[in-house]
Amino acid sequence: MSVNVTIDDLLCQGHGRCEALAPHLFEFDDLGYARVIRSTPAGHDVEFAASAAANCPEQAIRVTRK
Ligand code: F3S
Repeated sequence: MSVNVTIDDLLCQGHGRCEALAPHLFEFDDLGYARVIRSTPAGHDVEFAASAAANCPEQAIRVTRK
């Protein structure tokens, strides 16, 4: 099973919880919005991505399992 992480640019408001919870998976762009550093996490990073998604107030992060 592989996992894919994406951020909906239209929903992200720059709250930053994703970067605070998983700075190795998310970073900010020049405007203060999040972008994904590693879109196909593995191992424990899947849980970090899921935690970031669960804690985004805008529900902008999608973690898709295939
Ligand atoms: Fe944006 Fe949500 Fe992160 S609003 S900065 S994706 S916590």
